Amino acid sequence: METAEIRRRFLAHFERAGHTPVPSASLLLDDPNLLFVNAGMVPFKPYFLGQETPPYDKATSVQKCVRTPDIEDVGKTTRHGTFFEMCGNFSFGDYFKERAIELAWDLVTKPQSDGGWGFDEARLYPSVYVDDPEAVALWRKITGLPDDRIARLGKSENYWSMGVPGPGGPCSEILIDRGPAYGADGDFSAEDRYLEFWNLVFMQDELSAVRSKEDFDIAGSLPKKNIDTGMGLERVAFMTQGVENMYEIDVMFPVIRMAEQLSGRRYGADPVDDVRFRVVADHVRSGMMLIGDGVTPGNEARGYVLRRLLRRAVRSMRLLGYEDPALPELMPVSRDKMGETYTDLHTDWDRISRVAFAEEEAFRKTLQAGTHIFDLAAGQVKQAGGTRLAGDQAFALHDTYGFPIDLTLEMASEAGLSVDEEGFRALMGEQRQRAKDDARSKKGQHADTGVYRGILDGHGPTEWLAYETLETESRVLAVLAGGVGVPVLREGEVGEVVLDRTPFYAESGGQVADAGRLVADGALLEVLDVQRPVRGLVVHQVRVLEGELVQDATLHARVDPAWRTGARQAHSGTHVVHAALREVLGPSALQSGSYNRPGYLRLDFGWTTALDPDQVRQIEQVSNAALRADLPVGWQYMTLPEAKDWGAIALFGETYDNTKVRVVEIGGPWSRELCGGTHVDHSSQIGTIVVTGEASVGSGNRRIEAHTGIEGFDYLARERDVVGQLTTLLKTRPDDLVGRVGDLVERLRAAEKEVEKARLAQLLAGGETIAAQARQVGPVHVVAHRVDGAGGGDARTLAMDVRGRLPQGEPGVVVVIGVVDDKVAVVAATNDAARERGLSANDLVRAVGPLVGGKGGGKADVAQGGGTDASRVGEALDLVVAEVGRTAGA
Ligand code: ALA
Repeated sequence: METAEIRRRFLAHFERAGHTPVPSASLLLDDPNLLFVNAGMVPFKPYFLGQETPPYDKATSVQKCVRTPDIEDVGKTTRHGTFFEMCGNFSFGDYFKERAIELAWDLVTKPQSDGGWGFDEARLYPSVYVDDPEAVALWRKITGLPDDRIARLGKSENYWSMGVPGPGGPCSEILIDRGPAYGADGDFSAEDRYLEFWNLVFMQDELSAVRSKEDFDIAGSLPKKNIDTGMGLERVAFMTQGVENMYEIDVMFPVIRMAEQLSGRRYGADPVDDVRFRVVADHVRSGMMLIGDGVTPGNEARGYVLRRLLRRAVRSMRLLGYEDPALPELMPVSRDKMGETYTDLHTDWDRISRVAFAEEEAFRKTLQAGTHIFDLAAGQVKQAGGTRLAGDQAFALHDTYGFPIDLTLEMASEAGLSVDEEGFRALMGEQRQRAKDDARSKKGQHADTGVYRGILDGHGPTEWLAYETLETESRVLAVLAGGVGVPVLREGEVGEVVLDRTPFYAESGGQVADAGRLVADGALLEVLDVQRPVRGLVVHQVRVLEGELVQDATLHARVDPAWRTGARQAHSGTHVVHAALREVLGPSALQSGSYNRPGYLRLDFGWTTALDPDQVRQIEQVSNAALRADLPVGWQYMTLPEAKDWGAIALFGETYDNTKVRVVEIGGPWSRELCGGTHVDHSSQIGTIVVTGEASVGSGNRRIEAHTGIEGFDYLARERDVVGQLTTLLKTRPDDLVGRVGDLVERLRAAEKEVEKARLAQLLAGGETIAAQARQVGPVHVVAHRVDGAGGGDARTLAMDVRGRLPQGEPGVVVVIGVVDDKVAVVAATNDAARERGLSANDLVRAVGPLVGGKGGGKADVAQGGGTDASRVGEALDLVVAEVGRTAGA
């Protein structure tokens, strides 16, 4: 039975029983606990949790799911798919155990001719949770099976929860016995023999804590008892299609067939290859479905899962001996199968294929460089009699060739080696620290952080008051110039100052440093930059405007309030644009970097295609609507898990002190981000957000730029001025401007065409006169003529025209040399009679070309060349006559 038919029958069966059919939700539901939707019940969670009232009391669906913890098992067992479809029926306080069992048993055992699966009862084994005697009694009553056919299993198999506090309950599964070839009699842990294909969850408990599958606390009973079931579509397909495993079913096997064709190897010939074929079939499909729902490859979270799937598919093809781009061949096969149900795969194919193929290209480059290095390293280890790839070797592969560690691990295990993972991770940690120190010290005046550490050790961390105030009375702890401590900084000098306390914001999290002044007794200093070269120590880079500064002086540190206001506007503006971006493009658009200074912000984000003007406009509109709504801006400290629970976006590469992180929110959940920046109190204080551009910044990333606050207004005002000047100049109203300029451009084009026509006419008008001046060289009429202002095209047109005017039937040769500035164009043309006498346009161009500093050629009838020396055109023309004379024997 085809997969599509199983799906259809499942939904029809439950519709007949009063269930509302609900289409599959996206794989990317907003759920902080889940990377992807991993069960049919996920979209119904609010109903199960009692947070929302369901619009129906019974529903049925076939839900797209992705589970990746088992990725290593894919292809090795019969039943692990990273992408799969779960058929489910759900009761929200309506029927419970008895009806759920009845409905499932009916569908499973009903003959195929009657709309069921037609499974033989003798091969079916229900299982129940050990502490659920009610279920045992119901199974016996409904199925008539004897007691010994009902398996009693423990919590890890037959108690289901979402892995987090919430609803849960005992479950019953239906297993099908595939026969003694797949495992021992009665051994229910032999999952290939007793294949579980349908799980009926009797949701009756409220769990207050879930520590593991077997360790959880039941707080009480749910007010309403629910049913959640999940039937594996692929599993039923492979049982009813008489194939060995889920990868061989009708919607997956064609990909294996294509992989066979490409690789020239046969599926079923070699168990190791077979695993690779199955990995290809699974990963190509999963990758495609994920991209379909908006995931793009990246190094984090969802993007990383996708990257891994696509790369594993490509690598499996290489291991099968196929080294050309594989996805362009394989993915369309999967699309044609899956697209029957998920038609978006067709309509959105352009985008999906672009994302997938680009990722393969990137990976091919990485592989090319790294595989060779890996082989060398592995060879060395083996030669030395070792079995373990050193941490620094794995690190070099990662650092220099972009090999993710899991790829190195896989390749090592294929080569029979292990990897010193601990050593690798230690080196990674060191590198990260180095990169951070480097980035900081590059901002300071020198690369050695030792001097700052000394100050920190001596005085402790800077009391940092940027969140509280713009001004402090401070004491100078250290004065530096050129990276070393100095007793004094004099007028005009640039150096660094460390204070005991400071209101200055040091550059971080994309926000620039504060500007401002330090005022001491008789000294005035301008703050040029503020950095934190080592954690806890704020260093001000300064220029002495007046007087001099010495250590231990007390001074007044004052942040420029206008600067800080601008910085707050820009930083809050960045969060607003990020939230707007995600609202317009979807949650897969995630910030990859940012920079903001007073009046300006830019945000980089993971996205592979250019935004269209409508999307940009929408992002700008959503942003400004958020400003107008005057959303409150607030922040609080919490632990990272708390922040994640709260839905805060934590961006890659950010680091946070100890356990507490700072979460900045704008308009409550609308925008929550981990952030240490300074922000406005209300979104309206940002003033305005004017998006000025959107562009690509390297693979898979786009950049959006905007002006904020008064700069945003200034930007628009400048544009208005331009419009004003143009309307005056064109004597029109702003609304008619585009039409008017369009008209002008069109008229200009038409006028240019006219001018061109006139020029040509004038050029050709000379043709007759020129032809009349032909010289007689023996029997040959020869025209050798210079035209100033004629490029190659004009010279050619003229030469052809003149050739046609020479006496018919008599040999004629025309050479026109056009000159524009220093550029020379030579065109030669001969007629039939001339060619009969051995005269060739090609020979002539080759003969005169060198004289004018160029070359060229063509055929015997017409040839053309160019040069750069106009000073010898006269000689060239004479040479034409001489050449004709020589060839024609005149
Ligand atoms: N939610 C249940 C499962 O995933 C049906 O097995």
